[in-house]
Amino acid sequence: MIESTLFKDIEIVTPNGIHQGDLLIKEGKIAAIEPVINETAEEVIQETGLTILPGVIDPHVHFRDPGATHKEDLESGSKAAASGGVTSFFDMPNTNPATISVEAMQAKKDYASTTSLVNYNFFIGATADNLRELQDVENVPGIKIYVGSSTGSLLVDQDEILDQIFRDTSKLIAVHSEDEAMIQEKMKEFEETTNVLDHEKIRSAEGALKCTQFLCELALKHKHRLHICHLTTKQEVEYLKSLGKQPFISTEVTPQHLLTYSPDIFERWGTKAQINPPIRSRDHQEALFKGLKEGVIACIGSDHAPHLASEKAKPFGQAPSGMPGVETSLPVFLNLVDQGYFSLQDCVRLMSFMPAQLFKVKNKGQLTVGYDADCVVIDRKGKHQIDQSSLVTKAKWSVFEGLTLTGKPIATFVNGQCVYREGSFFTDVKGTEIRIETY
Ligand code: DOR
Ligand code: ZN
Repeated sequence: MIESTLFKDIEIVTPNGIHQGDLLIKEGKIAAIEPVINETAEEVIQETGLTILPGVIDPHVHFRDPGATHKEDLESGSKAAASGGVTSFFDMPNTNPATISVEAMQAKKDYASTTSLVNYNFFIGATADNLRELQDVENVPGIKIYVGSSTGSLLVDQDEILDQIFRDTSKLIAVHSEDEAMIQEKMKEFEETTNVLDHEKIRSAEGALKCTQFLCELALKHKHRLHICHLTTKQEVEYLKSLGKQPFISTEVTPQHLLTYSPDIFERWGTKAQINPPIRSRDHQEALFKGLKEGVIACIGSDHAPHLASEKAKPFGQAPSGMPGVETSLPVFLNLVDQGYFSLQDCVRLMSFMPAQLFKVKNKGQLTVGYDADCVVIDRKGKHQIDQSSLVTKAKWSVFEGLTLTGKPIATFVNGQCVYREGSFFTDVKGTEIRIETY
């Protein structure tokens, strides 16, 4: 274990601006940020042209462990995270078995403590009859409800049960928001289809909006914290904007919904681009982009949902939904920064600061003295191509493959320890459970 690390003459992105200077890590915390620090440290890092940011907090990944570890496991998923500058993740409960009890939650946390290279925590999944578990489980980012069905069997689509969960729990509720009855109805209509372009008709924009409105009404009625995962429609952006600033409801967008659109993405990638909720037409994509710029959408989540290329090669109807993304999220966003669409501080706000705020994460999400030393060193001008050989996820493919991006994660530090540097992993280091403040 390295006790102290000093970054000399580095560009530092802090909450009160970007400064050139020195940053000292001691015993897992940020100990000082000054124009010049004269202390010595066990390790000194001094290279020109580097920038240090708080590590990314990805609030939405599916690491498939337990149950589908051929697609990903906590070790491979957390390595992929580390290589992409992600120092903390929240994993979703649709594993096999699903994380729907206090016991299953503890088993995941115990296992992660010996396996994950980066910091971790897990959503607990809601079912029609596990209210007690949702109430009793401690220190979790929230309760995940699949109000529309997706990969796995988790689903709660009865209005009374949803009302009861909002009424009788106090943790943040994160939702997969698509109207299940509308999906089922459309599935009958498109039963025979093998055309992947029908995916967005089966899972319609109207269905997403209807479900989101219903859930927002519940959140406002019960004054309950609600986070809408992976927003996909212009109608939802408009609706959320119409609610104005309020403390209860937040939303996220994935890089793939933010930057790609139908039919182009399906022409290029076929069922690899099939995800739930779907990638939709360009007008939706543009509205999401604008919504993110204007602050209607508060953060980025990758919805890293790895499936093997062989599984995705099946025809539409048999291919699973979901795509990997935990390691490409930051590089793709840094490229947007390089192109001038967002500032570096926007990047930090949307990928580190806001996830910490929204999920009440203690001591993370910003480079501030006293905070946990979770950081990523980047080369803002470093050009690199996303290709299969450099991807770390077991899925080994990405819809961003072939893109040459500017802005590259070089090294990742978790609680002050280097877990990744230029293609190498330091697996003797393990992340810790992310502490969440209670509501
Ligand atoms: O496309 C998706 N894939 N959407 C989800 O909601 C689940 C995810 C998965 O776990 O594969
Ligand atoms: Zn997901």
